[in-house]
Amino acid sequence: MQDRGSWSSRFGFVMAAVGSAVGLGNIWRFPYYTGTHGGAAFVFVYLLAVIILGIPLLITEIAVGRASNKNPVGAFKTLAPNSRWYLVGILGVVTGIVILSYYSVIAGWVFGYIFITLSNKFSGADEQIISYIFQTVSGSPIIPLILLLIIIGFTTYIVSKGIQSGIERYTKVLMPVLFFLLIILAIRSLTLPNAIRGIEFYLSPDLSKIDAKVIAAALGQAFFSLSLGMGAILTYGSYLAKRENIFGCSAWIAFSDTLVAIVAGFVIFPAVFSVEGLSPADGPALIFKVLPIVISKMPGGLIFGTALFVLLTIAAVTSTISLLEVGTSFLIDEYNIERKRAAYILGGISFILGIFSALSCGAVGFLSKLPFLGIDFLSLMDVIFGNISLIFGSLCIALFAGYKWKVDNIIAEIESENVNFKFRMLYKVLIKYIVPLLILLVFVNFIVETFLKL
Ligand code: PFF
Repeated sequence: MQDRGSWSSRFGFVMAAVGSAVGLGNIWRFPYYTGTHGGAAFVFVYLLAVIILGIPLLITEIAVGRASNKNPVGAFKTLAPNSRWYLVGILGVVTGIVILSYYSVIAGWVFGYIFITLSNKFSGADEQIISYIFQTVSGSPIIPLILLLIIIGFTTYIVSKGIQSGIERYTKVLMPVLFFLLIILAIRSLTLPNAIRGIEFYLSPDLSKIDAKVIAAALGQAFFSLSLGMGAILTYGSYLAKRENIFGCSAWIAFSDTLVAIVAGFVIFPAVFSVEGLSPADGPALIFKVLPIVISKMPGGLIFGTALFVLLTIAAVTSTISLLEVGTSFLIDEYNIERKRAAYILGGISFILGIFSALSCGAVGFLSKLPFLGIDFLSLMDVIFGNISLIFGSLCIALFAGYKWKVDNIIAEIESENVNFKFRMLYKVLIKYIVPLLILLVFVNFIVETFLKL
């Protein structure tokens, strides 16, 4: 058995988990989903989902990981031997690899934007030039592939060395810097003409806009953003020491992740409404069109802009690391494959899969508009693996906690070494009844509505 290692401190764990949680999900996906799902109504459901479902599920994943001291597949095998629950872990491993494949495409664009900003292309650029730049980066048949290779290559290198816990040293400084930079950008955005219309769109909910599709998207976004439903947090939890307070860690992860997403919305939406030709429903391209505008309109935009894209790339890579770590720890624990080989095999598979997503944003017509579906390959992967699979995985983990491994065992795990868990009863009710019921309702409703519309 190879040494699995552990975090140097509770702070190290929280920083790594926050590193996993905070990423493109907060700054790219949250504004894009909010924009395409009706604005404030979506935000409202999202916040409810984080509190009611997100925190109990964070607690559960961490407890299951720590109790078993294993990867997601091994965890289910250890806690529920001779059952098929380990399939939930397999689904997590597959989901991680697929999410890594398309997530790295977007991370690649962000990385490319560092150089575009540095070359001063955004200063004085209008909406048309900025759209043109985006199309060139995302729609070229070569640039996205090179960028993808750089991101997956770097992620694989870090995971192969097993030094991600060393990254906590940088994360603990850089994530707060990213946060302050976002605040400065938000101030600039909020003082643009017409900003108020953006704030209304973002914060004043029209509850009649809430339908099954909005709720399902908000749930998927909450799980995606918190890295839930595929065993990433479970895997990180498996390296956590028994004396640490799981509830405290979970609350902190949920709070900081949500704060970053909310601030990102304050950067994007006021700016969207202040520029002719931009729409909040611009989809995956949204931040790539809006951030350059904010940058182009602020003093010191070159420095702020470059720093922003550098920090965003780092935030993305701390997330890609966790996506790859799930499968890697699975191969190490279950097949005794050496860490380096495991990481390179999975990084390679993910890169090959990622090629399809990288070419689906304009470069290859067929991939950019799939027959029958009408959406691009990257978005399709995001819907299936970044939403449905995470929602389904979360449902399984909640059912596992409530009905297979049993809540009392989870509570005993949380309370090991005399940690006092005040919200014991509340947690029990949530994870056993409320969380699975709500997820099931969303699922059924979503499927019924989808079929009714056909
Ligand atoms: N939570 C990450 C983000 O918001 O960018 C993405 C992610 C990482 C999702 C790890 C799932 C995961 F397991």
